[in-house]
Amino acid sequence: MSSPDPAGSRSTVTEAILLVGGKGTRLRPLTVNTPKPMVPAAGVPFLTHQLARAKAAGVDHVVMATSYLAEVFEPYFGDGSALGLELEYVTEDEPLGTGGAIRNVAPRLRSAADEPVLVFNGDILTGLDIRALVDTHRGSGADVSLHLTRVADPRAFGLVPTDGEGRVTAFLEKPQTPEEIVTDQINAGAYVFTRSVIDSIPADRPVSVERETFPGLLAEGAHLQGMVDSTYWLDLGTPQAFVRGSADLVLGRAPSPAVPGRRGERLVLDGAEVAPDAKLTAGSVVGAGARIGAGAVVEGSTILADATVAPGATVRNSLVGAGAHIGAGTVLDGAVIGDGAIVGEGNELREGVRIWCYARIPDGAVRFSAP
Ligand code: GTP
Repeated sequence: MSSPDPAGSRSTVTEAILLVGGKGTRLRPLTVNTPKPMVPAAGVPFLTHQLARAKAAGVDHVVMATSYLAEVFEPYFGDGSALGLELEYVTEDEPLGTGGAIRNVAPRLRSAADEPVLVFNGDILTGLDIRALVDTHRGSGADVSLHLTRVADPRAFGLVPTDGEGRVTAFLEKPQTPEEIVTDQINAGAYVFTRSVIDSIPADRPVSVERETFPGLLAEGAHLQGMVDSTYWLDLGTPQAFVRGSADLVLGRAPSPAVPGRRGERLVLDGAEVAPDAKLTAGSVVGAGARIGAGAVVEGSTILADATVAPGATVRNSLVGAGAHIGAGTVLDGAVIGDGAIVGEGNELREGVRIWCYARIPDGAVRFSAP
């Protein structure tokens, strides 16, 4: 166990692990062709925002734990020099789960046994003060420190109650009854591990850090420290959250040094064509090569590269996949359209609908209201 640092000086940590190997099932069909961390948010693969924030906090070496669609990360990010980082990639032969993935990259870590290593879930958009989490870790002498956030409805999350000093007292998975909801603090998906703790995770078998490693450490009497930081926090695991997160980045509500261009109502990437009378608002993004037709309305939505939104269509709080087509006069509200799908004219697709990649919806085929 590391010793407390009562001076609590503002500290940096130089090394981080990014967990980017999940299948992203809740985000399908966006994750059929693209792993979740590579789906564009505010014009760049979501992971770019996390890497840029880690860099800004003093990290210079990042090991990416990859599994699902592992081959797409390195061609895009390379050695990381464009971001001022040194990036390494480690691919699991079989998915090892969150804890197994952390353990699997241990041979690439450079930190000494008593030094801190950051670990980030690859699907969290947050304004977390990363250095404050490291300070908390050093100052408390914890084995693992966790970013905790408060949510109004914690039923879908793992609860993490703490005592008066912020020390974690339990890990409670997905509570259902009111009695089980003992706190509104949840695991926010960013951790500092003392390096030796990473080495103690079993190697070469799947391990869940949330369900096995953390409760196991607690049962052994290890020191797990929680730091509640109630800044911007969003788990981009579902399509609606992803669309919201991208819009918040564009609007400047969510912090990232990696948003290309100025914050505002819209972000139109180079090579996109937008008709002069089309209305783009509420943090909408139009990707390279995409086209927005005359009179179209795009509100709080993401239109990925090479997609087309035909004249008079309305796209609200939705995501239109790469190369997809939205027909004239069609209304999307809370919809996700997979890559290459074609939605004909005069359709109405509302809350929660997911159109699979390359599917075809004929003209006038789906409505939620009388035409
Ligand atoms: P869902 O399937 O929609 O639940 O998404 P997910 O697969 O991303 O799972 P989850 O959101 O629980 O994962 C949390 C983080 O851990 C994400 O950043 C995932 O990429 C990552 N992750 C989950 N399982 C694995 C794994 O087996 N290996 C690696 N390397 N990363 C993983």
